Amino acid sequence: MHVSVLAEEVIEGLNPKPGGLYVDGTLGGGGHAQRILERGGRVIGIDQDADVLAETVARLSMWRELFTPVHGNFADMKSLLENRASEGVDGILLDLGVSSFQLDRSERGFSFQQDGPLDMRMDRSGGRTAADWVNTLSREELAEILRAYGEEPAAWRIAGAIVQAREEKPLTTTLELADVVSKASGGRRGRIHPATRTFQALRMAVNDELGALERGLVDGLNLLVSGGRMAVISFHSLEDRKVKQTFNKHAGRMESLPQGGARWVGELPQMRKITRKAVRASDGETADNPRSRSAKLRIVERV
Ligand SMILES: C[S@@+](CC[C@H](N)C(=O)[O-])C[C@H]1O[C@@H](n2cnc3c(N)ncnc32)[C@H](O)[C@@H]1O
Repeated sequence: MHVSVLAEEVIEGLNPKPGGLYVDGTLGGGGHAQRILERGGRVIGIDQDADVLAETVARLSMWRELFTPVHGNFADMKSLLENRASEGVDGILLDLGVSSFQLDRSERGFSFQQDGPLDMRMDRSGGRTAADWVNTLSREELAEILRAYGEEPAAWRIAGAIVQAREEKPLTTTLELADVVSKASGGRRGRIHPATRTFQALRMAVNDELGALERGLVDGLNLLVSGGRMAVISFHSLEDRKVKQTFNKHAGRMESLPQGGARWVGELPQMRKITRKAVRASDGETADNPRSRSAKLRIVERV
């Protein structure tokens, strides 16, 4: 079962009203969505993973009247919601990354601890698998992905080892890749498995996670009604930077004009920050759920 991160903080921040319309762009196990439903909010739950969606639809079946599941990418939120939220929405949540459901199923290829096909696609209806990426990119391209998304210090060495290994036989399973990475980076040092950064980086590339975030943020802000809020939980510094910069650009200021009146300095739609700094999980939560350690929550409200 996926444990929802920063659940209290998200609900307090979104402050769902009975009858209000909320979009959970990363439905996952539906933990956050359920809390909104319990407050009487209507929820449109988007997930690009059809398996996750099917499980969560079954889990939330008692909320059928208030809950609408949608299979798709939150990057396409605007078109996905066209006929479902024409009046705009009162709140949007993005809780980025993968859920335990996906990590725990070896056949999805997200985990370096269990053997499975090297897939890593959240949406298996199309796109290139992690195996496609590692077996076709140049050493330079692989190293760049590992550096940019994984902040992997041994990126160049690992990329070289991948290219060398695949000359003998294409890499097709998670444990094959984990083994190549472990050997290239000199084995385990400390608590973190040597393949952690490589797997994270590949997953972000395979699913174009930063590209989706960029589109989802801009479309999401435009879908909000006045007073509507957007909450984003990120787990990666590049994601948090994107969220922070986007929110900052929209949370501008009014400037007085010499001829009288005032003008907005900032991007439209106008937003105001609800969280001044990123909200982090409490010590209690990080002790119970290590995944929450890197979580950062930011919330804005449409003016
Ligand atoms: C961290 S989990 C969400 C957990 C959920 N908030 C809960 O409380 O159970 C992220 C989920 O979002 C989905 N997801 C990630 N990126 C997505 C995207 N761009 N579009 C749609 N779904 C996405 C994943 O498939 C996964 O199920």
